Formats: sequence, structure tokens, C-alpha cells
Amino acid sequence: MRISVSFGATMASPFAVCRLKGRGSLVKCLQKVDPFLHRNIGTDVVATQEQRHGCKSLYAIQAEGQAQAERSVLISCHSSINEKKLLKYISRHGDIKKYFFYESYGLYAVVEFANRESVASLFERAAVPRVSHESTVPFKSRLLSLRNIGLADSTNQQSGQQCQPQTPIPINELILRLSKEESINQQITSLRDIYQLTEENSRLRFLVCSLLKDIAAAYFPECTIKPFGSSVNGFGKLGSDLDMFLDLDGISSRNATKPISGLSLEYQMKRANSERAVTQSILSVIGECVDQFGPGCVGVQKILNARCPLVRFTHQPSGFQCDLTANNRVAMKSTELLYLYGELDPRVRCLVFTVRCWARAHSITSSIPGAWITNFSLTVMLLFFLQRRSPPIIPTLDHLRDLAGPADKSVIEGNDCTFVSDFSKIQLQSNTETLEQLLCEFFEFYATFAFSRMSINIRKGKEQNKPEVAPLHIQNPFETSLNVSKNVNATQLDRFVALCQESSWLLQQSETNTFRGGNKGKASQPWGLATLLLPSQVAGINVSKKRRQEPANERIKSLLESLKNTNRQKKS
Ligand code: CTP
Ligand code: MG
Repeated sequence: MRISVSFGATMASPFAVCRLKGRGSLVKCLQKVDPFLHRNIGTDVVATQEQRHGCKSLYAIQAEGQAQAERSVLISCHSSINEKKLLKYISRHGDIKKYFFYESYGLYAVVEFANRESVASLFERAAVPRVSHESTVPFKSRLLSLRNIGLADSTNQQSGQQCQPQTPIPINELILRLSKEESINQQITSLRDIYQLTEENSRLRFLVCSLLKDIAAAYFPECTIKPFGSSVNGFGKLGSDLDMFLDLDGISSRNATKPISGLSLEYQMKRANSERAVTQSILSVIGECVDQFGPGCVGVQKILNARCPLVRFTHQPSGFQCDLTANNRVAMKSTELLYLYGELDPRVRCLVFTVRCWARAHSITSSIPGAWITNFSLTVMLLFFLQRRSPPIIPTLDHLRDLAGPADKSVIEGNDCTFVSDFSKIQLQSNTETLEQLLCEFFEFYATFAFSRMSINIRKGKEQNKPEVAPLHIQNPFETSLNVSKNVNATQLDRFVALCQESSWLLQQSETNTFRGGNKGKASQPWGLATLLLPSQVAGINVSKKRRQEPANERIKSLLESLKNTNRQKKS
């Protein structure tokens, strides 16, 4: 998948609006990206209080993303489309605020209008397709196709969009890029910059939620569909799934206030045995609609008997693997909490990206459900480790709850989900450890953690006795009786521990952590963090003895050899 960003020159105001009039009028006036998820915290080790006071709340980010998405359309174009012509044509319906192109089995344009009315105007002119031998479901949506009938376009041959990959770069390429950095700290920040969601990918996520909302609105006009999880918590990377939450709370909260006495009307509504039964029936019906009518939605599965019922499908035009849930407000809270921790100190995100990438490179995590450690569990483990530093880098959840004001109070299904939302109330302690030190300490910490007896608990910021038998016990921050890593079996935990031992050891070897950079255009040899991402020699569990006998440079040599072979194969 490649993506072409066509945001124009920097303007004084964050958003500039232009109308494309004559031939000469180009889209240059389209404004600079507002980097809401592209926030560059920089390489500073400690975030200043001022930076944190300026943080946007997740609520504000959601609201902004939703509003942009509702003014946007997704257009499938012929790959040779002339960009200027397309924009000129589309701008007949109104001012275009932003646009970009991306490729996913064909070229797509995301166009954001300045006003929602423009979408209505575009709908009036869009035709229902006429197809022979087949029939279409006459469901109109903001996923459209651009046709160019009977007009040979002389300028068509050169489309001019510079599309970039939207999927994450392959691991081998990442290793080569990291090897060019001159310090492990730089490698870690660079990994975050390479992997974090781009502004465009984030917009596309909001747009897919908004397209889904149009389907659900047939039944529930006041509903919203919000992204949660890594799409918005600041830890998402290109290729992450899209977790969506069908929020029906707006329906009851818009309730007219009941008079204390006198006549009043209320809706008659169907009743079900439990809230779970209501969630299941809503998801069942919406899932059916998505399957039967949702343009671009394929492989729809209704997984209604799961602890958290969901509808899973692929949204083909965006390439996202989607999970639609309803009545999942606790997960929204944990998304908000992870976002807050990520905003508190720039080291948090850098390390989360690094550990997630390291885990994926060694198949500790997987995109297939199973006994693997999940990214969410890994993130909670990293947060716990940062709470255990001396002094702690981030506060405990109990401390965040104690700082909460009356407006922050939140109890969901009996679970206390209260924590402070005002970043300025949070005072951090001054810990100046570098990313390199912290990464090494993280591996050391979990290489020697008493998993057999202790549970990981970010609410208390201290390990607790395990309340139940499970190889890995991580207390769910809000639903405290649940274990986030219940699925993990002993083999997977042992692999994780063995890899932590190996990585901690590798980082302490001078062969690993000495820059062997490629000056004068010479290719660099993998070093530092890049070495940790190379295939491991840890095949089983009890390999630590064998590994210690084997010199580090031998391992690096063999790994280098395998990299060279891959490159040779690529060239040939
Ligand atoms: N979640 C939770 N409890 C769990 C699993 C998930 O509260 N046991 C919530 C978390 O807020 C998590 C979100 O559901 O962020 C989405 O879960 P998942 O997609 O598994 O994790 P992500 O954080 O989105 O990470 P990934 O990039 O792997 O999708
Ligand atoms: Mg997810």
C-alpha cells in the first residue's frame, strides 16, 4: 500500500480553505498537516511540564477526528487519474480543506471538504452504477468511484502522485536504517518515528469509523462509532488493526428532562434479559448490515459469544482489519489511560514501540489470536517497569485516581475507572535515565521477574501475590478481577523470558553496542538495537548456558551472513 500526501505549503493558520476555480488555480493552498498524531516530542529525555500542559485530551482528538471524517469522502480512482483535474472536478461541490492519495489494490483519494454540505452536493450528482448481469444493493455511501467515460485524457499517462508505502517497512530495511544511527538512544527514537501512525493513516481510521456509522445510523441515527485501542492511544503503527466502539450513550443522554409532576411521554422500547443480550442483538443486526450492504466490507464474522462480543471484518479500500464492539466503555477508559501515560513522558512511547517491534520480530506477539503475549499486555508490562524505576518515571493508577476531580469520576459496570484528566495536576519525579539504559533494564527486569509468584499491577505500581494460577498474571487496570494475559501459556512466557535474558546480555556486550557505522556511503553493520531485532539463536527455553559460551560476535556474524544472503536473493 502506498500513500501520497499532497498537503500544500505552510500557512499561517492551521487550516486554510481554498476553492479551485480556473485552470491555473492549484491545490497549493491546501494547508499544512496538523500533526495531531504525528506529534514529534523530540529526543528530549524528560518532558517539561509546559509540554504536558499543552497536551490535547483524547476526547478532543476524537472529536476533531470525527468532525474531519464526517466532511470527508473516499474515492476510488483510476491509477492514471490527473490530480489537478480530479480536484477541480470535486471542488465544484465545495471548498476542499485537505486531501491525500494512497494505494491499496488501486488508487484512492481521501478528500475532506470544508463543510458537510459539500458531501450532500456531491451525493446529488453521484450516479447509481448500472451493471449488466449483476444487481447492486442501492445503498449510498461516502465510498465512491470516479469514472471517466468517453474522454481520452492526454495528460492521463503521468498521474503525478508520489505514493509512499502505508504498511510498515520490512524488518530487514528497519535493521539497515537503525544501523546508520550513531547511538542506541537515536535508534530507539528513530524506530518510533518510522513506525508510529502517520497523520493520513490516522485520518483514514476515523473515516472508516464514520463510514460504518452511516450504516449503523440506519437503526440508531444518534449513534457514534469511535476508534479505540492503538488507533488512538499513541502506540499504534501502520498495519495495526482498527478497534471500533459503537457508542449509543448519546441516545439516552439526549433524553428530555422528565418533569417532576404532570404529563410526560417516554419511548416504548423492547426489553432484553441483560445488557449483554442487548449488545449481542445490536451487533448481530449491524454486523448483518455491514455484511449485506457495507461497500468494501468483506469477510464479516459475528463473534457474539466472546467475553466482549464483536463483529470482525476487513475493510478492503483501506486495508484495515476491523473489530467493531459495542458497550465496551471500559476499553475506552484503558485507551484513555494508555494515551495519558504516553503523553506524560516521551520515553514511554519510544520504549513501547521498541519493545513491541522487538516482540514482533521474535514472534513473541502475533496477529493471529492464540497463547501469545498481546501488544496490550506488553504495553502494561512496560508501564509497570517504568513505575518501578527509582525514582519512578510514571505514577501509579491509584495516584492518578487520587488526583481526579469530581468531573473525572467514572464507574462502569461497578468498576472504578476514575483517574485525573487534567495533565497539569500530575507532578513527575525527575528521573534522567536514558532510553538505552531503560531498554537494557527492561530486559533485565523481566529476565529475572518472579512470574511464578507475582502479578503485575499498574494500579499499585508494585508486584502483588498472584490471585490465581496462570503462567503470566497482569491485572486488568480497571476490571481488577481479570487477568489481561490469561491466554498466555507457559511455553510462550518461557520464550519471552529467554529472549529478555538474551537481549539484556547482548546489550551489555561491547560488540553489540559499539557503533560500526557506514561512513562515506558504506553500508552499516547491524549494531545496538538493530542486533536485537535480528533472528534469535534462542530456539527453546534452556539455552542461556549455551548462549553464554558462544561469543557475541559469532552470533552477529551469522546473523549478518543471513542478512547478506537475503539481500543477495533480493538483487538476483
Ligand atoms: N483491551 C482491554 N483489555 C484486554 C484487551 C484489550 O482493555 N484484555 C483494550 C485496550 O484498551 C486495548 C484495546 O482494548 O488497547 C484494543 O485491544 P487490542 O486490539 O488487542 O490492542 P491494541 O492496544 O489496539 O494493540 P494492537 O496494535 O496490537 O491492536
Ligand atoms: Mg488494536
